[in-house]
Amino acid sequence: MKNLSYESVIKEIKRRVSIVSLIEAYLSLKRSGKNFVGICPFHDDKNPSLHVSEEKGLFHCFSCGAGGDIFGFMMRYNNISFPEAIAELAERADVPLERQYRSPAREKSRADALFRINSLICKFYHKALLESQEGKEALNYLSARGISLETVKEFNLGYAPSSWDTLTRILAAKNIPLSMAEEIGLVIKRQNKDGCYDRFRGRIIFPIKDVDGKVVGFGGRTVSGEEPKYMNSPESEIYHKKSILYGLDRSRDYIRREKHAVVVEGYMDFLSLFRAGIRNAVATLGTSLTREHAIILRRYTDKVIVVFDGDEAGKKAALRVLDVFLPEGLKPLMVILPEGHDPASFIFEGRQDEFQKLLHSAAPILDFMIERYMRSFEEQKTSRSAAVKEIADVLSKMKDTIERSYYIKKTGESFGVREDELLSLLKFGDKLEGRINAKKPVNNDQRLVLKTLLKFPKLVDYIREDDLIDIFPENEIKAVLEHIILNGFDDLSSLLFKFNDSSVQEAISEVVFLSDDVPDEATAWKLLKDCIRKLKLKRVEENLRVVRIKIDRAIAEKNNLLEEKLIKEYRDLIQKEKNIRGRD
Ligand code: UTP
Ligand code: MN
Repeated sequence: MKNLSYESVIKEIKRRVSIVSLIEAYLSLKRSGKNFVGICPFHDDKNPSLHVSEEKGLFHCFSCGAGGDIFGFMMRYNNISFPEAIAELAERADVPLERQYRSPAREKSRADALFRINSLICKFYHKALLESQEGKEALNYLSARGISLETVKEFNLGYAPSSWDTLTRILAAKNIPLSMAEEIGLVIKRQNKDGCYDRFRGRIIFPIKDVDGKVVGFGGRTVSGEEPKYMNSPESEIYHKKSILYGLDRSRDYIRREKHAVVVEGYMDFLSLFRAGIRNAVATLGTSLTREHAIILRRYTDKVIVVFDGDEAGKKAALRVLDVFLPEGLKPLMVILPEGHDPASFIFEGRQDEFQKLLHSAAPILDFMIERYMRSFEEQKTSRSAAVKEIADVLSKMKDTIERSYYIKKTGESFGVREDELLSLLKFGDKLEGRINAKKPVNNDQRLVLKTLLKFPKLVDYIREDDLIDIFPENEIKAVLEHIILNGFDDLSSLLFKFNDSSVQEAISEVVFLSDDVPDEATAWKLLKDCIRKLKLKRVEENLRVVRIKIDRAIAEKNNLLEEKLIKEYRDLIQKEKNIRGRD
């Protein structure tokens, strides 16, 4: 079996690996009709809601929505990437994987070379800390701050000697081009002169690793008190600051086990906590949390406790976390430390039990935000409407509709505002339509369309019509349909391969597991027409609702020109609605 394409490797693996036996290796399954069922490992399942179909090669949980094929299962269960899942299953199935297919990334070999340089330098710095004369002072400093030799070794802490050309000499001896070291910021080009000089000099070195433990960059702390206190590797091909969380390679299993993550700011905070037995932490390294961070953390837990300084800057930072976490479906909690403390200084005073207690009593940042506006309103620093509007803005970012209604109620009660008024504020944001479309209740018509097309791909011509794709409210379904329209559809396994994004896989597995079955093409055709008509109507009704809200606002703002334009739009929509209905 030589020169299999990546896609045929995947088909071959699927042919050889039974999804039922694969999943059975992790949990027990019972037969139920044509399928198998088991307790879902992806949420806190009481009754068996995970369904597995050998025939379809898919699993789907009817409770939490997790779903996909064998690769999807491995990715989720072991928290690994798509290429990693392929590599693992290829080995199990004894399918030889050509070297070039071990990772789809074309740039892999180049990135590998950069990682190798970092790894080499990391070892050098580590040795310099432990063995060089200069390193002694650094080692003493670390020990005085409560960082033991064991921790130094566990996290490969190092020391960058104070001379300007240490790395240049090492790299030359190993025949490594300086330009590559420059690219990842280890050395810096001299101005108006040849050669480079070391970025880190006379500093304690903290290697920064990605989730697989590969060194992406370094942070260097001064020992002598020189400014700046920390220097860091720059952003590079292998170091993407907005998606790196320091320590995650070591803490991810603890995060999963403890069912929550603790987010701190600095290297010292992370290491102190780790040493004190609080191992489910990560550090942002001083930058603010991003949506990428949220997406990464969500792979391990949906409960994230962010630890902040007690000062005003810390509190402001806490509020910003809501903006990036809520849209990703995470509800962050917060702990505020007494002013002047960070986790490292807290632990240094031997107060780990107290710290644990603080973690246990962590409060949702949303509650903190609402209370803050409440206080500001009571102290007459903010008007009621301004405060409520600010809160509504944040609440409209929430994904979880049940949580959101709880907070709408809570805000309403706290400020004496009616819930429907709050709801209308929620819609009156900048992205009026976007928000109304943001999260839809499950719409079975669009699922039925997809199911029908998967069974009778010929019918796809029917949805090729202009801008029809817009009537599908869910992005995942839309993406799959768009793909089918453009490329046709042969089989489920290559379709799943095209979408190794878990939310799309979920949508596909859900559709395939739908109980409604489509027996023959004639019925499918009728069904399709009917679903599409309903979806079109829904879309028009939704547009009508949006335009009505806009008209009300235009009237309130006495904007006659806009009002007229909107009324025309409204009439057109009514006509469109009639046309769709008329086609009965
Ligand atoms: P802190 O100033 O709180 O540092 O910045 P720290 O971690 O408490 O450091 P120690 O305890 O004095 O040694 C928190 C994090 O922000 C980043 C670092 O990652 C640091 O750990 N930082 C801070 C920088 O990148 N540059 C700086 O100059 C300062
Ligand atoms: Mn600090």
